Amino acid sequence: MEKYLINPNQKLSTICRDIYGTFSEHLGRCIYEGVYVGKDSPIPNVNGMRTDVVEALKEAGLPVLRWPGGCFADEYHWKDGIGPKETRKKMINTHWGGVVEDNSFGTHEFFELCRQLGCDAYVTGNLGSGTVQEMSEWVEYMTFDGVSPMADLRKENGDEKPWRLKYFGVGNENWRCGGNMTADFYADQYRRYATYVRNYSFQNRVKKIACGPSGGDYNWTDVLMKKVGRAMDGLSLHYYTVPGDWGHKGKATEFTDEEYYATIEKAYVMEELVHRHDALMDRYDPDKRIALIVDEWGTWYDVEEGTNPGFLYQQNAVRDAIVAGLTLNIFNKHSDRVKMANIAQTVNVLQSVALTDGEDMLLTPTYFVFKMFRDHQDATLLGSFITTQNLSEKGRLPQLIESASVKEDGTIVSTVVNTSLTEPADILCQIADTAVSKVTAEILTGDPHDHNRFDDKDKVALRPFDGVTVTPDGFRAATPPCSVVKFLVK
Ligand code: AHR
Repeated sequence: MEKYLINPNQKLSTICRDIYGTFSEHLGRCIYEGVYVGKDSPIPNVNGMRTDVVEALKEAGLPVLRWPGGCFADEYHWKDGIGPKETRKKMINTHWGGVVEDNSFGTHEFFELCRQLGCDAYVTGNLGSGTVQEMSEWVEYMTFDGVSPMADLRKENGDEKPWRLKYFGVGNENWRCGGNMTADFYADQYRRYATYVRNYSFQNRVKKIACGPSGGDYNWTDVLMKKVGRAMDGLSLHYYTVPGDWGHKGKATEFTDEEYYATIEKAYVMEELVHRHDALMDRYDPDKRIALIVDEWGTWYDVEEGTNPGFLYQQNAVRDAIVAGLTLNIFNKHSDRVKMANIAQTVNVLQSVALTDGEDMLLTPTYFVFKMFRDHQDATLLGSFITTQNLSEKGRLPQLIESASVKEDGTIVSTVVNTSLTEPADILCQIADTAVSKVTAEILTGDPHDHNRFDDKDKVALRPFDGVTVTPDGFRAATPPCSVVKFLVK
């Protein structure tokens, strides 16, 4: 039996809701078809945004959306995406599939999407190939409420009032697609560009996010902390789970048990990455004023057969739900430093929460994990510990990965991932100084290959979990192999 201890007397940090964000790039069918179909589309839409996707994202409580890239951001010139659609410039999306980008989805459309979703905006600027003036003017265009050339231009284009811009990224992956810069060079560039990312009002203080490291590049973090420090509000981290290598990544729904475990073990590397970047940041910022922002994470497989390799379209199985569950538990546990994260990406690209096919849409196993974990948003992380065995022969892969929080109304939320393919886990949970009267639970589980298809959309879904019994100070539960379970304790 595994012992699970939750300590409500140990209130640690607020789990910022923005940890549950997603990322939408002008890549493949993420923006076009995935969220934006245009007003004249036969697909039901409001101002061009497809209703099915918007409703699903709202239902999962999407708090923040990152846009327009990704690598696309450092080639994007925002003025191409404003004004009458007929006169907007067309360009080739050189990074992603060489297709024509007609700029019909631009700044106004992005904020309209955020409005419909009721979520916050995270916009990434072009440092790699854009000018300081261009970046500065974009922020002025989006946020200035007075009389100025950019505010006037926004008004001419139909939006009298500025929008609320919560986060602004000063470049993306500037160590590679965003300009192939060294950490030192980027740090200097950041200081220069960020100087002109102005705060135009007290009501809208824009949090500036610097391009951070790729995975375990600790030197990048060190240089940025040393040279930029408090001139940034957040430092981003990108880490993708690739089961094989970049040449042969592996398939989304066909994989062996060994490949399953390789995937889960690589996803669990996130724990070490967050822990070590946090420790490094502590040396310069012990008060944790600068956030670690994991603004790209998720699984990355070979594209589905017959699809454009530049579109990064992949299916999504129960294995992905395990990755999502364990990763979100890691972020919760580090919520004193991790203040935002954005899974890559929202629709039709990499580890998506939804897939579309013409007017059809399905929700992926990953979607249900986000929906399930919604209860953690803005709750307070509690001290917790679970006994468990290590499933990895050489490295670290706990069978059970958990986090626990308390909501404002006193409900304790616990999410437990069982990563084993074969072993259930008999868990005895004790909650310190608490008399428990009711526990409800829901589960996402299945064969790790199970996934939803357009001809079988409900194969994987959230179900009530009745394998739980209430004890005087907690509960006992047998969680099945390959499962994500949420317990709500009153
Ligand atoms: O998410 C796909 C790509 O992965 C992004 O454009 C880039 O930032 C990263 O390398």
